[in-house]
Amino acid sequence: MSSYMDIIGSHIRPFVFLYSSLTFLPGALFGRRDSPSLSARDAWFFSFWAKVGPLIREGASAHITALLQGRGSRGGVVAGEPVHAALGGTVLEIGAGTGVWADLLASQPGVERVFGIEPNEGSVRILERVVRERGIGDKYTVVPAGIEDAGEWVGRGEVDCVVTLLCMCSVPDPERIAREVYGYLKPGGRWYVFEHVRADGVGWWTRCFQGFLNIFWPTMIGGCQLTRPTGESLRKAGPWSKIDLERRPEDPWYAPLPHIYGVLTK
Ligand SMILES: C[S@@+](CC[C@H](N)C(=O)[O-])C[C@H]1O[C@@H](n2cnc3c(N)ncnc32)[C@H](O)[C@@H]1O
Repeated sequence: MSSYMDIIGSHIRPFVFLYSSLTFLPGALFGRRDSPSLSARDAWFFSFWAKVGPLIREGASAHITALLQGRGSRGGVVAGEPVHAALGGTVLEIGAGTGVWADLLASQPGVERVFGIEPNEGSVRILERVVRERGIGDKYTVVPAGIEDAGEWVGRGEVDCVVTLLCMCSVPDPERIAREVYGYLKPGGRWYVFEHVRADGVGWWTRCFQGFLNIFWPTMIGGCQLTRPTGESLRKAGPWSKIDLERRPEDPWYAPLPHIYGVLTK
């Protein structure tokens, strides 16, 4: 049973997140003088994410590791034998950000090559540094572009696995992008997903609260949208042979940022 304190706490946390982002605005605007081509929004977001991304990794690491090992199913982690093939072959990490997950992806046993797709110039600089410092440059290639332009680096039908971690909330036109990304996968290729989504199937209050937050959230969090039905966009991206993608059971019914988690197989 959820207590009132849990419910109130979960409604306060998004404001703490926004406030934390706000504290990075002055530094980002002054720092931008060195990189005039970087938009104010991108400068703000990458400096915020460089701080917050590693904290998110601390909390989500066990889940993401299990997901990449093929042990993510029905929205949660399954104990014992994997239920999906593990991450392997040629991998696209879309929205690689500041490299929070780069070493985890590159270190998975079957992975031959990872293309880290990231359009934010400030994040790209940090991602390149992470790749250098972790010594994963032999496997991990930073692609300083949006997924729309990834065709210059990798061919359609050539990718074994796609990974999107908290990224489909930020791309423009997610339905079109989901279809394009589907086209990059080989038959039998897999898309590993961890995303926050629109609160469906819950009371009107959570939907209204998400809608209210979403008035200013995208401006303050680098274009991130809270009310996307990303699960639907991915399901409709193309004909899948297997879909194992569900809302995480540990997100309570009132969660303002519920997540979906799982694997789709082409
Ligand atoms: C919330 S961040 C998540 C970053 C990273 N996946 C992580 O978990 O630390 C979303 C990322 O998606 C990136 N993004 C936005 N539009 C994109 C696009 N068109 N193609 C690829 N990535 C994009 C943003 O620049 C940002 O780095």
